[in-house]
Amino acid sequence: MFQKQTVKEFIEWCNKWIQNSYDILAENSALYVWLGADQNDNFQPLPQFMIMMSVTDFKSRSFITMRNQRGYGTQKNWMAIRQELLYYTKGNPEYKVQYTDIPKILKGYYKEVEGKITETSERSKSDTIRSGNVWVDIQQVFYRMEENVNGCYGQKPLKSIERIIRASSLEGELITDFFSHSGTTLIAAERTNRRCFTIDIDPLFAEISIRSLEHLRTDGKSGWQASNPFAKELSELNNKELEEIGITV
Ligand SMILES: C[S@@+](CC[C@H](N)C(=O)[O-])C[C@H]1O[C@@H](n2cnc3c(N)ncnc32)[C@H](O)[C@@H]1O
Repeated sequence: MFQKQTVKEFIEWCNKWIQNSYDILAENSALYVWLGADQNDNFQPLPQFMIMMSVTDFKSRSFITMRNQRGYGTQKNWMAIRQELLYYTKGNPEYKVQYTDIPKILKGYYKEVEGKITETSERSKSDTIRSGNVWVDIQQVFYRMEENVNGCYGQKPLKSIERIIRASSLEGELITDFFSHSGTTLIAAERTNRRCFTIDIDPLFAEISIRSLEHLRTDGKSGWQASNPFAKELSELNNKELEEIGITV
């Protein structure tokens, strides 16, 4: 469906929705952008995007890295296991510190206390720490998780979106996401008592987003795990009809 654009075209398009976003956002608000970086092509479009942002009125605040558990390119390069998330603000919105469970990865930081070797979590009085800008405590979405929506390969973990929403908005406030996909932002907004306006250029993803919200409201589920949003329609098709839409039975 999508044609590959040059980086220049992509950035010009980004510049338009970034300007539109600036215009519609409240006086004091936050903007978060997930953006990939092609390591085989000078990490585009991340640097070009950052430069484009530098001449807007948004203020850069943080460059968050979220760690994926699984990656790609394991044989000939460092395994790519990160997702980049840029945090910008308009005006002067509040930022609320978020706490996370002490990630297992931090264990192994040993220190001698009164002659005894202790590990980080043993010395801490708390079970949580302040979330920094490297997130290693969020599970990448996969088919065994309730929130999984089959067929949505760009699905972001619900926990990551809820963290952003809680850090940068209050209950009852409005969240927007112009790239809804599986509807994660919609679901996260519902679960954190915010309002949400969302769109997707692809009607299939728009439909999936609507079904996701309905599914949450009727069954209390955040996704379909190993099933999918069209299970009912698919169950009504015979084998020939299934084969016609590319499903082997
Ligand atoms: C990577 S996904 C977003 C992931 C989503 N935030 C989530 O967590 O599930 C990108 C989505 O943007 C949509 N999209 C691409 N170009 C668009 C455009 N010009 N306007 C609106 N949506 C667009 C795609 O159809 C796709 O569903």
